[in-house]
Amino acid sequence: MHHPLSLSLLVVSFLFIFGFSTASQASSSDDVSILINEVARANNQSLLWGPYKPNLYFGVRPRHPKSLFAGLMWAKVDDFRTVQENFRHTCEQHEGMAGYGWDEYDVRKGGRQTIHDAGNTVDITIDFIKVPGGLHGGSWGARVKGVPREDAPAQQFTTVVFYAGLEGLGNLQVENEPDTLGLEGDVKLKGYTPDLGSFTIDVTTGPESNEHPQHSHPSYAEKPLDRTLVTSLQLPSEHLWQTRPLLFTVMKPEVDAIFQKYGTESPPPPPQVFTIPNKPGEGNLHFVQKVFEGAFEFDILFSSGSAPQPITSESLTEGIKSTALSFSDRFEKIFAPQAPFDSPEYTEFSKAMFSNLIGGIGYFYGGGIVDRSAAPEYEEENEGFWEEAAEARARARPEAEEPRELFTCIPSRPFFPRGFLWDEGFHLIPVIDWDMDLALEIVKSWFNLMDEDGWIAREQILGAEARSKVPPEFTVQYPHYANPPTLFMILESFVDRFNKSAAPRIDLDREDIADSLRSAHLENRDLAYAYLRSIYPLLKRHYYWFRKTQRGDIKSYDRDAYSAKEAYRWRGRTVQHILTSGLDDYPRAQPPHPGELHTDLISWMGLASRSLRRIAEALGEKEDTEEFGAHEKAIVRNIDDLHWDEEAQTYCDATIDDYEESVHVCHKGYISIFPFLTGIVGPDSPRLKPILDLIRDPEELWTDYGIRSLSKKDPFYGTAENYWRSPIWMNINYLVLKNLYDIATAPGPHREQARQMYSDLRKNLVQNVFKEWKRTGFAWEQYNPDTGRGQRTQHFTGWTSLVVKMMTMPDLPASKGAGHDEL
Ligand SMILES: *[C@@H]1O[C@H](CO)[C@@H](O)[C@H](O)[C@H]1NC(C)=O
Ligand SMILES: *[C@@H]1O[C@H](CO)[C@@H](O)[C@H](O)[C@H]1NC(C)=O
Repeated sequence: MHHPLSLSLLVVSFLFIFGFSTASQASSSDDVSILINEVARANNQSLLWGPYKPNLYFGVRPRHPKSLFAGLMWAKVDDFRTVQENFRHTCEQHEGMAGYGWDEYDVRKGGRQTIHDAGNTVDITIDFIKVPGGLHGGSWGARVKGVPREDAPAQQFTTVVFYAGLEGLGNLQVENEPDTLGLEGDVKLKGYTPDLGSFTIDVTTGPESNEHPQHSHPSYAEKPLDRTLVTSLQLPSEHLWQTRPLLFTVMKPEVDAIFQKYGTESPPPPPQVFTIPNKPGEGNLHFVQKVFEGAFEFDILFSSGSAPQPITSESLTEGIKSTALSFSDRFEKIFAPQAPFDSPEYTEFSKAMFSNLIGGIGYFYGGGIVDRSAAPEYEEENEGFWEEAAEARARARPEAEEPRELFTCIPSRPFFPRGFLWDEGFHLIPVIDWDMDLALEIVKSWFNLMDEDGWIAREQILGAEARSKVPPEFTVQYPHYANPPTLFMILESFVDRFNKSAAPRIDLDREDIADSLRSAHLENRDLAYAYLRSIYPLLKRHYYWFRKTQRGDIKSYDRDAYSAKEAYRWRGRTVQHILTSGLDDYPRAQPPHPGELHTDLISWMGLASRSLRRIAEALGEKEDTEEFGAHEKAIVRNIDDLHWDEEAQTYCDATIDDYEESVHVCHKGYISIFPFLTGIVGPDSPRLKPILDLIRDPEELWTDYGIRSLSKKDPFYGTAENYWRSPIWMNINYLVLKNLYDIATAPGPHREQARQMYSDLRKNLVQNVFKEWKRTGFAWEQYNPDTGRGQRTQHFTGWTSLVVKMMTMPDLPASKGAGHDEL
């Protein structure tokens, strides 16, 4: 198995020939469209399966809207009281976990997840391996191992339930001969769906070392626990995701019956009581239960019917080994931590952070709830607009929209297991180094959610399962709400990197087609152009939607600026929050005013116009290049004209005071350095020095653990919700670090200061996130500016994973003559 070319010999040989035949001349458009299609097909196959239900500790599904899904639940069963709460399924915070997640993961091959379940005194390891082959995205296998933790009782009983369900068309049934006592040997499921073809799923008994609870209670004779119990059900498809309650529904009559039969005086031991009936057959949901004593191991083997051969426990063992090796090799090549983090413990940390980012990728399908009332109050044009807007929202009748699909990273498996627009641009920064084609696929998935006006909902809560994690007041999305356009950062990087030379050859001499697919769009110019071409109209639509709907007012207030047009204001403003900005409670003008201008938004628009200009340039769109270039220039000028405050020596929001004059609203912190964060303040800018000084001042933004969100001197520092009013956030710290690096490596008067700050900040950030990961077993949503402690959401492996990137950034030790800024 793992024959490198088995994914699709056809595709490979085709590309091979194509590569040579076009090596020296321009390719014909037919050839190009065939190539595009074949690479898309190969990518679809390669990315089909994954743990794409990241809200679960282990939940597998293909990237098909309604299809097969599979998952795992387990519990310690040593008493009658706690069993129900012991059952693990959806990732939860503070559930007695001493850390969990992917130690190694590669979307194209698989990896290993370890779950340190302290509450159940068991450590569970799941190796998930993908095997290419055939016409339907290949096969996969999962090896589930449980090892009692050090503090486990001498006799530990664990019940494990694997399930497989079918949401759409097709069938699924248990193949074993029926046996009322329970099934002996491997359990075999067989199924068919239109998108997967025919397939089988084997749940093995595992090695002989597995032990099962034995006891002399008469109930044992009816259900010996060394057998596997299977219950097959046929249910309305919309209920299937609620697997845990469904399991309890199936188990409860058995529990009741056993107590009725044997009374509460002499009940059977708990592992016997908490079992499902053995009723295997046909259905769209199948529970497969095993009860173990002590350590255990078994395999789940999904074999695609069109694959050359089925996956076996032996081939899985091989696959686990080769996947671990290839992951380590590739990691070493791409993400080897640089000094002073070039040690095994930082490498292990970095692997885990990266693997949780891409092991957290999900595929979601369902309808989001949107308020399409387009109430005039949503324009937010009048004083007191937030009250009118609140009334309009209360009147609206938001409705679920048509189901959509989304392929995306997520911020946090237990707390935010869904897509967030502005997070995604940060998530993809490490991903593009590992697998550019994956990142492009995700970007495309997001842009496909855009409506006709150019709007993308900032939070994607697609379907009932996703909704179950969100308080009802936050489920509605509004088509006048924006969110920072971070995906432009990714496309800008792509334009920086793709090979623009005229030789569009894909190198398939390589051992492994997966590696060719990761960079097909980087290496093949035709593919790169075709991708940019296909996404370009959407990018423009999105950009113009921002310009139209989030415009700020210059003229009505006689503001002095280079351009009378380039000013921006977030809509969706309330008195305390601008949730749409992403920096929810960062202090802004009080009270809100329709004449406000927001520093962060104009900076994002500067970034977007720059990125679009470069894409237009790459595509040879001359007029567009000029237009976006003009926007960019006007935005850069207006940032200084409208937002720089001479007295405060920082960038500030603007509002309108009681005398109808435009005035600045200065709160030093992330917002006040936004032009720097978005690369708009260059090495020669006269504004650079005060910004560097502000960042470096421990009485303002600098801490030993990273850059705090708001200056310690600000009156709102640490007040109210204190979400973006002091804590340290890794996404913004990454932008600080990257821009310090850019300043430090270009000629300019503040080069040495930037170098020193870069070097110190990089160490502070990485060391602290590492220390907290060691201490708590988790990455965190934000870090405390006084203690460095991780806080708020646990297992926040979204943008906190940017530490991976920070570790690979070069150390910049002081050069000879350090201390003298270059002039
Ligand atoms: C790849 O998959 C997407 C849906 O996930 C589909 O729309 C597209 O047609 C597929 N492309 C090819 C070439 O099979
Ligand atoms: C671009 O392609 C040319 C021709 O195949 C190759 O020589 C060159 O190394 C490539 N450059 C990069 C950056 O991949």
